[in-house]
Amino acid sequence: MDATESETGPNLLGFRINHRTMRADTRRLADLLNRVATGQITYDRRRAGALRTYVSLLCDGVHHHHRMEDEVLWPVLARSASGEIDLRELSDDHAALEPVLTETRAAVDDLLAVVTSGDEAGERTRVAAGRLAAALAHLRDLLDEHIEEEERLVFPVIRRYVSVEDWNAVERAVRRGGALRFELPRIERYAEPDELAELTRTAGPVLRLMLAALRPGFRRREALVFGGG
Ligand SMILES: [Fe+2]
Repeated sequence: MDATESETGPNLLGFRINHRTMRADTRRLADLLNRVATGQITYDRRRAGALRTYVSLLCDGVHHHHRMEDEVLWPVLARSASGEIDLRELSDDHAALEPVLTETRAAVDDLLAVVTSGDEAGERTRVAAGRLAAALAHLRDLLDEHIEEEERLVFPVIRRYVSVEDWNAVERAVRRGGALRFELPRIERYAEPDELAELTRTAGPVLRLMLAALRPGFRRREALVFGGG
């Protein structure tokens, strides 16, 4: 994407960063949980609770993003670019994500329950963390493959056939159902400086104000989950 394209056609920057954010966070969490599973990190009740919230919100975000593609973007493509793209495999990928999200949620619930029962540094915690690490690794691999394919197949079709009005309606639908308190600070975290400058330029001062308001809470949450900071 370049500045010229963003002025004249659908601006895919927000979507691209959203994709990157889902992939990067899933990867980061899978690595983190491997360290919990091997006993390199011990989670107390508070950190396990924060982890559960973070993983649940991530799963909500992944589910919502793909549901909006099925329900809003795909119909736009069917209308604007009929015959140009076959969405069946991508839709199958979306369906395949659901059981993995369910397993991820169940595994993080289980980890919190085990830690809360007092087994913070014990074998049961390491087993529960291993289950969660495996679910997150599976989710990471599905997202990597699916998103790369989607960006390769769908993005050029959006650029070529979808109107700016239709594209903006898709983005509004995605934003409406999303947990902005969780999503916006993560976009800020994973966007490159020039991308962030473009986002704040196109979204106006409200985005800058929201980022400033949400940043401290998110950083605290992130430090609790991932350590450091
Ligand atoms: Fe998708």
